[in-house]
Amino acid sequence: MAGQQQGVVVAGAAGGLGQAVCAALRAGGWQVCAVGRSAERLSVLGDPVLRVVADVSSAEGAKAAIEQASALFGAAPAGFVNCAGAVSLAPLHRTSSEAWRACLAANLDTAFFGLAAFVDAARQAGQPAAAVMVSTVAARIGTPNHEAVAAAKAGVEGLVRAAAATYAAARIRVNAVAPGIMDTPAVGGLIGTPAAREGAAKQYPLPGIGDPADLASLIAWLLSPAAGKVTGQVWAVDGGFSAIRPLVR
Ligand SMILES: NC(=O)c1ccc[n+]([C@@H]2O[C@H](COP(=O)([O-])OP(=O)(O)OC[C@H]3O[C@@H](n4cnc5c(N)ncnc54)[C@H](OP(=O)(O)O)[C@@H]3O)[C@@H](O)[C@H]2O)c1
Repeated sequence: MAGQQQGVVVAGAAGGLGQAVCAALRAGGWQVCAVGRSAERLSVLGDPVLRVVADVSSAEGAKAAIEQASALFGAAPAGFVNCAGAVSLAPLHRTSSEAWRACLAANLDTAFFGLAAFVDAARQAGQPAAAVMVSTVAARIGTPNHEAVAAAKAGVEGLVRAAAATYAAARIRVNAVAPGIMDTPAVGGLIGTPAAREGAAKQYPLPGIGDPADLASLIAWLLSPAAGKVTGQVWAVDGGFSAIRPLVR
């Protein structure tokens, strides 16, 4: 099976997508190390998932996360997924500098420092490796009130392409996924009532709210040897929102 016995680090693992990714990777035979800022929140991931408490939004935190995971695995991780992030919605003129900085920390700093620590360890180990970052549909097509998160995730997509180019010769692959709305705690406030849920679902050419388990399957595939020729790509999983405009009847 793909990834048998190899170690993969999942940052933001206690979140809605993070939990689905840990489950998909376990099912695919990976040894999973879940990283998050709270031991209590990580405890939702039962054994045999390994757990490390660290904050990957700083260089020191990300380095500590990869070092501790490597110690638990007994080797550098072969995979890394950054599921840390936050959905912050407000029009630009009502986005405070604190909210902007928090959005950058959650979405871009975690990707930048997490990926940096991972590729450094993989490079030193001299082994093939793969990473997946999480962007958003809002980085590709303008959607109202998404200015901060769209800017941060566009940064993530640029990071992915540049890092994929830098580390291709070292056989380290870097890709991203860009989902539309998914049923996770991050958007609980947006789809908390049946009417709000229906309204959100109708925005998509293929209507509906995404299931994090479906995105987790794609992420697991991107880490697997079957995706061995795939790097520097952003995979839209958004019901066609960013690419097509069906006839409105
Ligand atoms: N849900 C959606 O509709 C949707 C749509 C498009 C993109 N996304 C993206 O999908 C990814 C997963 O989100 P989700 O829906 O699973 O959200 P979630 O359930 O809220 O989980 C997000 C995780 O991010 C971590 N995190 C938040 N801020 C952080 C910070 N400043 N530093 C370090 N870690 C931080 C949290 O980890 P702790 O446990 O450490 O607090 C949390 O577990 C995110 O990148 C999000 O932007 C989600």
